Amino acid sequence: ASMELGPYSHFMQKEIHEQPRALADTIEPVMIDGFSPALFGPDAAGLLADVRSVQILACGTSYYAGLTARYWVEAIAGLPCSVEIASEYRYRDAVADPKQLIVTISQSGETLDTMEALKYAKSLGQDKTLSICNVPESAIPRASRMVFYTRAGAEIGVASTKAFTTQLIALFALTGTLAKLNGRLDTEKEAAMLQDLRLLPGSVQAALNLEPQVTAWANLFAPKQHALFLGRGLHYPIALEGALKLKEISYIHAEAYPAGELKHGPLALVDEAMPVVVIAPNDALLEKVKSNIQEVRARGGEMFVFADADSHFSESEGVHVIRTPRHVGLLSPVVHAIPVQILAYHAALAKGTDVDKPRNLAKSVTVE
Ligand code: G6P
Repeated sequence: ASMELGPYSHFMQKEIHEQPRALADTIEPVMIDGFSPALFGPDAAGLLADVRSVQILACGTSYYAGLTARYWVEAIAGLPCSVEIASEYRYRDAVADPKQLIVTISQSGETLDTMEALKYAKSLGQDKTLSICNVPESAIPRASRMVFYTRAGAEIGVASTKAFTTQLIALFALTGTLAKLNGRLDTEKEAAMLQDLRLLPGSVQAALNLEPQVTAWANLFAPKQHALFLGRGLHYPIALEGALKLKEISYIHAEAYPAGELKHGPLALVDEAMPVVVIAPNDALLEKVKSNIQEVRARGGEMFVFADADSHFSESEGVHVIRTPRHVGLLSPVVHAIPVQILAYHAALAKGTDVDKPRNLAKSVTVE
């Protein structure tokens, strides 16, 4: 294994650092075709033409990729979008809609609950099925009419990293394609979105360069029992993903909340022993996040804020700030996924857990 790992200590660390390459590879076909149904296979032009809504189904980290996409699909493509955990969807009476696009997201393409959710959708007569998957010819893409393969390469670490960020690329490409088919994307806007994609691997590399600062924070987290992650809007799913990564590999209990919901419960938990991580780039909700931060500080909570230069956050008593790369607009969740992965990785390292094979978890869950 040491040869495969090169300079890295774990597959997870290697996979985190492979992200600029994984993203560039996944973006490549989008650069060639632009936002086009051709990205999703030979049947996609016909199947996507009259889509009226989108239902995303997935588990774990893949579900959080879906939650991020909801913001894009509604804002850019103008289509209603729901996201549901596959194991819930498969057991409820869902309303069938032949013009709804069913999108399953699965790194492995073998997750049983996601596969069963897809079969259930098909049994309801839903024929517009698209799989976003990292493993060619696995079960879920084979059962779908359309497919987009992420090009992350083999992911070995149980906790998903590069698969997640490449899934976001696939979902951004889907959003652009649906927007175009829906008459909501002119040439200029498409060119701007493609340019954002082109620059993304560089911004992700800049985020990776924050590793020394994030490691210093991780060492402060290692002795803690609990942590809270906050985000709003597009960055709320990144808060969820950050909390999931931390629980999965460091076994620190972590929860994520949309920052506006703080006052409806989790604020009761905040004291000096509860570190609070905030994903706070300069977006439309920044001022609101800042007032949420005041609420935490007033209760003695120690804050760890990821903010870009435009957010104008400065360090103060109990408020630590790491400056994330230049704001990349709608793709910002991809860049902000990086520091929360690194935080979890180094917290786990400090605790000495089995990073690549955390207790009780499996890479691919093919049982119920
Ligand atoms: C397991 C893995 C997670 C993954 C989830 C969904 O829980 O440990 O990392 O996000 O399954 O897997 P999938 O292959 O369907 O994306």
